[in-house]
Amino acid sequence: MASLLSCLQRSLKGLLILVPVLIGLVFSSPAEAASWDAETLTVPADPEGIQVTFSEQEITTGRKVFNTSCGTCHAGGITKTNQNVGLDPETLALATPARDNVDALVDYMRDPTSYDGEYSIADLHPSMRDAELYPAMRDLTDEELRLMAGYILVAPKVQGTAWGGGKIYF
Ligand code: HEC
Repeated sequence: MASLLSCLQRSLKGLLILVPVLIGLVFSSPAEAASWDAETLTVPADPEGIQVTFSEQEITTGRKVFNTSCGTCHAGGITKTNQNVGLDPETLALATPARDNVDALVDYMRDPTSYDGEYSIADLHPSMRDAELYPAMRDLTDEELRLMAGYILVAPKVQGTAWGGGKIYF
């Protein structure tokens, strides 16, 4: 009986070690890598529907720059101060002009316009145009803008509706 107990205790201890290790394995890079296939990394490059395939490295860089430069307002693809204008693909697609492609997003970062495209909001939204107003934008390179756009478009393909969350997450 005693030996059965100690045997049980030992296997319990074993489990205590094994379970975190297994959880670690499930949530670490292999699972993420599996979702970053070429299809996931391919997004519209321009309004005409030309496609571009980013590398995983580019999207990782895009994510870092995005989180640093835009994260205060757009973490997770939402817009904290205007929840109706999130960065989810549906909302981007319905803007004028549609913003669900790399070129349009880069344009927006250079010279942001209202959702209906009627007027510039460069004096309200951080942009390359008014770097004075938002110094964090000043040092961004064209390539970084492109990689951030790539990240904004790839993120919902990896995260699903958790990206941009829809209004229900608030
Ligand atoms: C200070 C807060 C703030 C920061 C920082 C910020 N944004 Fe925004 N962003 C907003 C707001 C507010 C809107 C909604 C503007 C409007 O009323 O049309 C918006 C809208 C957008 C849109 C349009 C979304 C759509 O569905 O049409 C894009 C694209 C965007 N931001 C990209 C960025 C990027 C890229 C960065 C980082 C370089 C950034 N933003 C940094 C506040 C911010």
